[in-house]
Amino acid sequence: MGKKITDKVTWVGKTDWELRKFHGDEYSTHRGSSYNSYLIRDKKNVLIDTVWMPYDKEFISKLKQEIDLNKIDYIIANHGEVDHSGSLPALMKEIPDTPIYCTANAVKSIKGQYHEDWNFVTVKTGDKLEIGENTLTFIEAPMLHWPDTMFTYMDKDKILFSNDGFGQHFASESIFNDMVDAGQLEEEALKYYANILSPYSPMVTKKVKEILGMNLPIDLICPSHGIIWRDNPMQIVHKYLQWADAYKENQIIIIYDTMWNATRKMAEAIAEGIRIADPAVTVKLYNSSKTDKTDIITEVFRSRAIIVGSPTVNNGYLYSIAGILELIRGARLKKKAAAAFGSYGWSGEAVKLINEQLIKAGFTLIDDGFRAEWVPDENTLSKLREYGKAFYAKLSNIK
Ligand code: FEO
Repeated sequence: MGKKITDKVTWVGKTDWELRKFHGDEYSTHRGSSYNSYLIRDKKNVLIDTVWMPYDKEFISKLKQEIDLNKIDYIIANHGEVDHSGSLPALMKEIPDTPIYCTANAVKSIKGQYHEDWNFVTVKTGDKLEIGENTLTFIEAPMLHWPDTMFTYMDKDKILFSNDGFGQHFASESIFNDMVDAGQLEEEALKYYANILSPYSPMVTKKVKEILGMNLPIDLICPSHGIIWRDNPMQIVHKYLQWADAYKENQIIIIYDTMWNATRKMAEAIAEGIRIADPAVTVKLYNSSKTDKTDIITEVFRSRAIIVGSPTVNNGYLYSIAGILELIRGARLKKKAAAAFGSYGWSGEAVKLINEQLIKAGFTLIDDGFRAEWVPDENTLSKLREYGKAFYAKLSNIK
């Protein structure tokens, strides 16, 4: 059954309670997700986005309960990624001539995936589609988060259909933000921003300012994943401005991997030193081989600084550290500080190599790092506590 959003708009998407991994294995979805598709019934009937391919039959069968498919006048594809376009092949078998409104880049991404020459109508920012009492306006939003992305604004109902923007992986039977736990919702929205949109923060700032400058009255923000923003919908827009502007909280995290616990002991001693320096700062430790990588990136996003540790193994660092460093590089975070540490038996290159990766990822290195030969004894642990204190003191001098 669809869910009523306004008199003219019905949610016809799929709530995916089972989903625990998204983008292959890239993104953990502890609370599931949803693929939001919206049916507008004005003088013309419009379908905005579809759902992920595994649910295409279910989607079409339920859509048929809402409307005779032949009465759909227009399809709008705000974004070509498979979680939103995946039911197009099945749908277009039913209504092959229906025009699909999308950006020029979406024509490329949709054709590139499905190899079909459907009736595409290319639109640009400012183009309008009259559908009766409402007019739809298209707003291109390239790299939020694909080149093909656009938003669609519905004027009389004052709805911004923002696709991935302002979304969250959050399965819920209640679809509005005033009907779910606000803390959980913000947690998922921030995780989504940190892991999906953070690399494109400069574009987010530009696009959000452009939309604010358009002075569009907005009563509802309807993303393509998760919960609809109804109560104070602009709160998430202002959050995006904050998150896009080198966001940081008073938090330092230590990410490490360890073979026989020497590097773990180092991590804990450094953390103690930071806590002695400032009991108010939040310090968290994550073993990268045991912790969900999406959650680590979220914590990196929230941090002022990170300290990364690995023992030296085969003249390098451990596999899980290599993976997390690659994800950190991809997030393109700004104005964050870092350092490295690790134990070693003989060659001891890990700290230098981690430093190189942190510099490539855009972090400001606080120092050359800390290497401990073999397992740290009490004397070395004491030096590590002092190192943590000194790290914090130097960090305070970085703005
Ligand atoms: Fe939810 Fe970029 O797809």
